[in-house]
Amino acid sequence: MKKLAIITFASALLMVQCTPKTFNQPSLKDAFANKFLIGVALNTQQINGNDSIAIPLTLKHFNSIVAENCMKAENTQPKQGVFTFDDGDKFVNFGIENNLNVIGHCLIWHSQAPRWFFTDSLGNDVSRDTLIERMRTHIDTVVKHFKGRVHGWDVVNEALTDEGGWRESKFYKIIGPEYVELAFKFAYQADSTVELYYNEFNNEKPAKREATVNLVKNLQAKGIRIDGIGVQGHYTMDFPEFADLDASIKAFAALGVQVMITELDLPVIPWPSETVTADISFSVEAQEKYNPYANGIPDSMQQIIDQRWLSIFEVLNNNADAVSRVTLWGLHDNQTWRNNWPIKGRKDYPVLFDRQYQPKPVVSKIIEIGLKP
Ligand code: G3I
Repeated sequence: MKKLAIITFASALLMVQCTPKTFNQPSLKDAFANKFLIGVALNTQQINGNDSIAIPLTLKHFNSIVAENCMKAENTQPKQGVFTFDDGDKFVNFGIENNLNVIGHCLIWHSQAPRWFFTDSLGNDVSRDTLIERMRTHIDTVVKHFKGRVHGWDVVNEALTDEGGWRESKFYKIIGPEYVELAFKFAYQADSTVELYYNEFNNEKPAKREATVNLVKNLQAKGIRIDGIGVQGHYTMDFPEFADLDASIKAFAALGVQVMITELDLPVIPWPSETVTADISFSVEAQEKYNPYANGIPDSMQQIIDQRWLSIFEVLNNNADAVSRVTLWGLHDNQTWRNNWPIKGRKDYPVLFDRQYQPKPVVSKIIEIGLKP
């Protein structure tokens, strides 16, 4: 009881400290209200109430939420037949209670799928039929569990390579490319009212754009429901070219589906490779040269970063008729996967609120973009 009182008092104190700048300006969601939803990914710290300031900030600026991790297969079915929905339920119920658009992420993804999914008791790959059945059971159980509480699902995540081929995932190797259409069919059979999305990173690249278009056309030709394409939006200071982002939004919208920017973030510390990816199997050794802003960002660099944020939002605003949602992959700089990937323990600044939960100065300029007629 005493501990709870101390936590409540500490939260209230922090709220007071955060109030002046955070809560007196127009919000992101209101600025873009007639254009697209503004979403944010929440992590388990936030879902479980250990990051209490995050909650009023979320409610002030965002009208859509997605779970950063707790609805992935690794967490919802860690062992075969053992489904755990505690965090997922907290997350979804928080969204429902606060009238937010709740997105489920994600049903079928090669990464963060538990090992048992693909192997038998001897550790060998399971047969095609077995994997299809496991996929069906997983999708059916998870989608039905959240039925009526989730607005849309990222059904399949990251099935393609940057070059436009099929990613050689276990799903692909064991089942073949049909795993994508099966996943969408199973999701539809479990809940015919929920929206179903294909979610991908780097699909601003022309080859991957074309492959995404073909993947969706194939589903549509077979009469399989797909409602939207997620452009993850894990960007860097050099990627993507804005013309490519614009071209992908237009190409995807031309398919008659919603286009969503689903995981937007802009890391500002150097990317330690020639290949830009969001593939979490990629990792690099820590080196000081890769952590240049441990003590803050110089003004000259901050201006470049701000300009990049503004250019991204200009492209999205100009395509507001096609874009239905823009979701930030993280609420504040202190809790973002970018601080730990692909190098652990760096200090990055990839989202719109700083480590003190304050909106960065660029937020008011983004709001101005949203308020344009
Ligand atoms: O929760 C455990 C904790 O108990 C443990 O002590 C700690 C040790 O490292 O790991 C914690 O789990 C980590 C989890 O994030 C929560 O922080 C995992 O190791 C780590 O792999 C996991 O990373 C997530 C990653 O997906 C893989 O699931 C990132 O937070 C998350 O931002 C990232 O999100 C993906 C999208 O789902 C799909 N698109 C790409 C995007 C970035 O990779």
